[in-house]
Amino acid sequence: MIQKNSLMALAVLVLILLTASCTGKDTGKPENTKIMSSRGAKAEAPPVSAELKEMLADYPPAIRESIMKNTGDFLSLATKALKLPPEIFVMADKQHALGEAFIPEHLVPLTDYPELTLSRKTLELRKIVIPDLLQMVSDAEKEGLTLVISSTYRSYNYQKMLFEREVKLYGLETAERESARPGTSQHQLGVTIDFGSISDEYADTPSGKWLLKNAWKYGFSLSYPQGYEWLTGYRPEVWHYRYITPLGTQLQRKYFNDIQQYMLMFLSENRTRLLSITD
Ligand code: DAL
Ligand code: ZN
Repeated sequence: MIQKNSLMALAVLVLILLTASCTGKDTGKPENTKIMSSRGAKAEAPPVSAELKEMLADYPPAIRESIMKNTGDFLSLATKALKLPPEIFVMADKQHALGEAFIPEHLVPLTDYPELTLSRKTLELRKIVIPDLLQMVSDAEKEGLTLVISSTYRSYNYQKMLFEREVKLYGLETAERESARPGTSQHQLGVTIDFGSISDEYADTPSGKWLLKNAWKYGFSLSYPQGYEWLTGYRPEVWHYRYITPLGTQLQRKYFNDIQQYMLMFLSENRTRLLSITD
């Protein structure tokens, strides 16, 4: 009887040891693995949906809901976007200055591209914008429209001159709503374009309407839409588009209510966290 009990105790011990070796560190897998869903989640890391919910706490319900309904697709698009050069989504606004020293890489003179219609010969953009810009211009032309490029890259000093001129002409309060202080303009990034007349009337022109409907297909995003001055800091500018790549505009339309500022805020606030949960 004693022998039988000892044998049973030994069997139990062997079983315990075997189980431990199958679930513990000896499997070669890190204990705190990154997880893609709450199923099978280990106690150490919160499920992805809980993490996303936390990141979205201060965003409008429509944005929260669209992301929470499709977390897998959202994370896949967002991480692809975050693997693009980081300056594509860098913030340049009243709270996030680029500073005086910032000069973008690979600026090219637009006179190199005779298919573009320019208001001045000195215009430049970053090279990364050119292929999608040429495609957009060519597609608009097929519909009988000429997209006039009126303002592009602006250096810190050029923006300083523009802002000071606005203040002199219209006073500080109006200038602040229409012109960026030097060091904070999206134009300093070298990926932003003002089209046509640079005026409210552009919204009613065939080109203005065409851009509003189609620019996103080529990666161009309207930076200052109607109704969001409280968020962007600027009154609507129907002529001002920032290039954020077609992946960026897809993400913006699908998950951020088509509001660039929300998407840029979310990606910049959560860059590291997003990349770590989907690694
Ligand atoms: N007009 C926009 C806000 C700029 O000056 O960059
Ligand atoms: Zn502009």
